[in-house]
Amino acid sequence: MSAPTHPQPSAATQRSTPMQPSTPMQPSTIAQWLSHGTAALTPGSGSARLDAQILLALSMDTSRAFLFAWPDSKISAAQSDAFADLIERRAGGEPVNYITGRKEFWSVELAVTPDTLIPRPDTERLVELALEHIPQKREVTIADIGTGSGAIAIALALERPLCRVFATDVSDACVTLARHNIARLDIPNIEVHQGDLFAPLDDMLFDVVISNPPYIRDDDPHLNEGDVRFEPRLALTGGADGLDVIKRLLVTTGGYLHDGGTVLIEHSHDQGGSVRALCAEAGLHNANTFRDYGGRERVTIAHGSVTHSSVTHS
Ligand SMILES: C[S@@+](CC[C@H](N)C(=O)[O-])C[C@H]1O[C@@H](n2cnc3c(N)ncnc32)[C@H](O)[C@@H]1O
Repeated sequence: MSAPTHPQPSAATQRSTPMQPSTPMQPSTIAQWLSHGTAALTPGSGSARLDAQILLALSMDTSRAFLFAWPDSKISAAQSDAFADLIERRAGGEPVNYITGRKEFWSVELAVTPDTLIPRPDTERLVELALEHIPQKREVTIADIGTGSGAIAIALALERPLCRVFATDVSDACVTLARHNIARLDIPNIEVHQGDLFAPLDDMLFDVVISNPPYIRDDDPHLNEGDVRFEPRLALTGGADGLDVIKRLLVTTGGYLHDGGTVLIEHSHDQGGSVRALCAEAGLHNANTFRDYGGRERVTIAHGSVTHSSVTHS
């Protein structure tokens, strides 16, 4: 097997970009373009080398493995132009996953757009905890509130093929994207509905309610930093204390749970006490907060009443 070669970019076809070297030597090989891309991204990205690899692979319509295998292979003018464009976007702060339109979650590749949160590895902890409450061999009904790209619903549906997942999102664009991801992965046991919290699921009861809702405080300075600047506020912020959506969600959750059903909520590391208190106020029992692998309180789990008769939908 020999490395495919690509025409070397000529001086005439090369555009002037901030990442072009000041030395007379033009980059021509994969390794050289990677070094220049990495250097251009280093001031603004904590993962400059990885970002450059992903963006070069995208520009060449190839895999990162190809870049490692053929570092001395030359890239074409069209490819280097495309790479320069992508590096410029990334240097401007645009998240790599919005540029590629893809994000891996729970070992599944999902489409993502700027209309939706980029699923976080942290949320895999929520999925992991949820699976402990969802038996393999029973048809469990699950509500995923604020589904975004469909990440949680998809992970649960794949892990528990007998379950039926009903996902909602208030954003039309998220509903469209989640449906697209579900169709592309050919997952039969998820329905996605547009609307506020449980509104599209009225009259239904669930064994498990799960949510990664917006929970960042409106004035959190991180909202104006890094990749988060590009994500939709609707997916991120939850009012002055970050708890607006969680409060509304917990108040109504009891009315949608089967007797003794389980609710799992992801939240910020400093909201565990507040979320447990909100669960108690909402009539949910045995609230317990679980830590992520960094030791921070990130997921609260509580249970519905054992007799459902006193709870009504609001
Ligand atoms: C933090 S994102 C989570 C997305 C996805 N579940 C994930 O974990 O990657 C929160 C999602 O909740 C949705 N959302 C915000 N307010 C909502 C509401 N009142 N009812 C339903 N969905 C809502 C947002 O559109 C966003 O998709």
